[in-house]
Amino acid sequence: LDPTLDLVEAINRLRREKNAVILAHYYQEGEIQDLADFVGDSLDLSRKAAATTADMIVFCGVRFMGEVAKILSPSKIVVIPDAEAGCSLEESCRPEPFAAFRAKHPDHVAVTYINCSADIKALSDVIVTSSNAEVIVNSLPLDKPILFAPDRHLGAFIAKKTGREMTLWPGSCIIHEQFSEKELVKLKTRHPQALVAAHPECPETVLRHADYIGSTKGILEYVVKTDNQEFIIATEPHIIHQMTKAAPGKTFIPAPFAEGECASCADCPFMAKNTLEKIYLAMANAGPAIEVPEDLRIKALKPLERMLELSA
Ligand code: 13P
Repeated sequence: LDPTLDLVEAINRLRREKNAVILAHYYQEGEIQDLADFVGDSLDLSRKAAATTADMIVFCGVRFMGEVAKILSPSKIVVIPDAEAGCSLEESCRPEPFAAFRAKHPDHVAVTYINCSADIKALSDVIVTSSNAEVIVNSLPLDKPILFAPDRHLGAFIAKKTGREMTLWPGSCIIHEQFSEKELVKLKTRHPQALVAAHPECPETVLRHADYIGSTKGILEYVVKTDNQEFIIATEPHIIHQMTKAAPGKTFIPAPFAEGECASCADCPFMAKNTLEKIYLAMANAGPAIEVPEDLRIKALKPLERMLELSA
C-alpha cells in the first residue's frame, strides 16, 4: 500500500464508488468510529444491516456481527476488515457440545446471546442481545424452562432480573471476566462521587457495585443523561470515545483489572484487529467477504427474526 495514501479520503472514495455503508461497534478504535456511517450496539447494528439499501456492508466489529449482517441481508456484499476477528464467547460454544446440551434438556427453550456462530444460532429458538434479553425472556411462556448460552454472566443477570429458572452454558468474555472487584472497590474509594456503569457480561462480583447495568448503548445513554460528573466504566474502554464526544465535560474512568495489569488490558484483542488500512483493502478487494451457506442461513435467520419481532 502506498504509504502516502490518505486512508480516510481513499475509504470515502470507495464508499461512494461501491455504494457502501460502514457500520462500527462502540469497541472500535475512535478513528474507525468517526469514519462510520453508524456506530451502535449489537442490536442497533443488526437493525441497520437488515434495513440498509447499500450494496456493500463494511462491518467493523467482530466476525459474528458481519455474519449476522449477511444472514439478515443476504443480497448484500458483507465485508469485514480482518477475517481473524473472532470472539471468546463464540469460541466457548461449539456446535457439537451445544447440540448435546440441547438434547440433554429437550423441554427447554434455547435463548442464545448474539455473540455466537451461525451454527449455534441455527440450533437456537431465539437470539438476544444485552439490550433486549430481559424483554425477550419475559415474553417466553412461564411453563417452559430456559437454556441460556453462551455468556453465563449475562444469563445469571437475566435470570435474577426475570426470576426465571435458567440452565447456563459456562461461557464468558475474556475481557469482562477480568474486571477486578477488589480494584474496583479501591477505585470507588478514591472517587467517591463516581457512578459505576457496567455491561452485563461482567461477573456478579462486579455487577453488585454497579449503579447502572446495560448494553453499550444503554451505558452510553446513562452517562450522558445522568446528572453526575464522574463515571467508572466497566466494559471495553473504546466506548469512552463516544462518551467524551457526547458529554465532553464529564470524566470517564475505565474499570480496573487485577493489580499490576496494564492500562490497555481491557482492550478487546479481536476488535483491535481492525485498522483503517484493512478497511480500505476490504472495500477495494470486496473481501474478506462473509458467506453463509443458504440452508444454514435460513435456519439461523429464524431465531434472529424472532429476536427482531420480540424487541420491536
Ligand atoms: P452490546 O454492544 O450489544 O452491548 O454488546 C457488547 C458486546 O459484547 C460486543 O461483542
